[in-house]
Amino acid sequence: MNQIRGRFQKDAAETVINYTSSLPFDWRLYHFDIRGSIVHARMLAKQNLISTSEAQALEEGLKKVEVEISEGRFVLKPELEDIHMAIEQRLGEMVGVVAGKLHTARSRNDQVALDTRLFTRDAIRQIQTDIRKLQFSLIKQATTNINTLLPGYTHLQPAQPVLLAHHLLAYFEMFERDYARFEDAYQRADVMPLGSGALAGAAYDLDREFVANELEFAHISQNSLDAVSDRDFVIEYLSCASQCMMHISRLAEELVLWSSAEFAFVEMDDSYATPSSIMPQKKNPDVAELGRGKTGRIYGHLMGMLTAMKGLPLSYNRDLQEDKEALFDAHDTLSASLNVFSEMLLTLSFKPQNMARALAQGFILATDVADYLVKKGLSFREAHAITGRLVTKTISKSKTLESLTLAEYQEFSPLFGDDILQISAIRSVASKDVLGGTAYQQVTKQLEKAHKIIS
Ligand code: ARG
Repeated sequence: MNQIRGRFQKDAAETVINYTSSLPFDWRLYHFDIRGSIVHARMLAKQNLISTSEAQALEEGLKKVEVEISEGRFVLKPELEDIHMAIEQRLGEMVGVVAGKLHTARSRNDQVALDTRLFTRDAIRQIQTDIRKLQFSLIKQATTNINTLLPGYTHLQPAQPVLLAHHLLAYFEMFERDYARFEDAYQRADVMPLGSGALAGAAYDLDREFVANELEFAHISQNSLDAVSDRDFVIEYLSCASQCMMHISRLAEELVLWSSAEFAFVEMDDSYATPSSIMPQKKNPDVAELGRGKTGRIYGHLMGMLTAMKGLPLSYNRDLQEDKEALFDAHDTLSASLNVFSEMLLTLSFKPQNMARALAQGFILATDVADYLVKKGLSFREAHAITGRLVTKTISKSKTLESLTLAEYQEFSPLFGDDILQISAIRSVASKDVLGGTAYQQVTKQLEKAHKIIS
């Protein structure tokens, strides 16, 4: 019979044990659980709730349990329900009855809230490091390819020429927002719940500030009912992770498109692509596709937790145990994705000639022609209409805007002068010399800023 089944006359059924045990996944919290328990024991001694020698025995025992677990010598018995019970039970085997004092003024409800917060804080810091790594790769490729132009798209139709570096830095911005969102989420994870007891607080003279300081928490929870049943910080983590993964997925989608034979803007390094088992000519962008695919998993965890929480009365309910697999899997998936994408990005070889070929198609300079007429005094709408007619005619002649003669231009407006013959993708890019625009000077300034942010 396990140690907390005091009033029961029967053991739990095996199916129930397997159904309810969180040990197969929450063993991952062991380090945080032990760290929290050591501080709790020290606080109990400081408040004369246990003796100093008892606290020392507990601390030494807990450290030994930690070594056993980290060395893989710890046997997980599912009937112990969760990592908190498993550690306490092993502690008892090691230090004897004094182990029973560790749970003074504490419940697993505030204990698991503490452990999950400790985990989440670390997870956020880990993800922020991973985001910086990905941003570094984007900056590196943007710097290497600083003179490369390609068509920018809207509606996936060629729209206007842009610098490849500008395109890559667009992702830098997205991941910068993710970084900031995680930072913000950290503030609300950074709340120390111990002392909330099962739900009502603790009937002992505790020093919650001491515990918060030792565990480096910026805040202490202010309502015990809320503290044991709050998983907003898990949902916020999952929400930040979802947005970050959405950005990875957009990048993935572009790499899938760009590495297709139709675009051929980029070639994946062999070590980050996979062959087809049947078609020898193929080089598939599986890493990018999986990044796109795994996004669904993280959204699923977010929806799962929002749904698990929506009908919960105060305070702790066992439903809350469902937070862990969602949190752990989302974290592992996001961290792995950020890491493999950072590496893959560094190995990409862009194809400037193919981008230049694409620039020559699709009347990508039409807006520049309209801008030209506006600078000669027409309203933008008139200029737009004239350029539209010019494009239609040019298509019917199977020509391009760059190959028209001055006379052909002047058929549509007398405002066209010699200089219209100089329109080019390079000039088009250079003309977007506004803050946030794609002109070389602007993009190099953004690159410098990006460098500063990540260093
Ligand atoms: N394994 C539980 C969880 O993850 C720990 C708290 C259990 N508390 C309880 N009253 N059964 O939520």
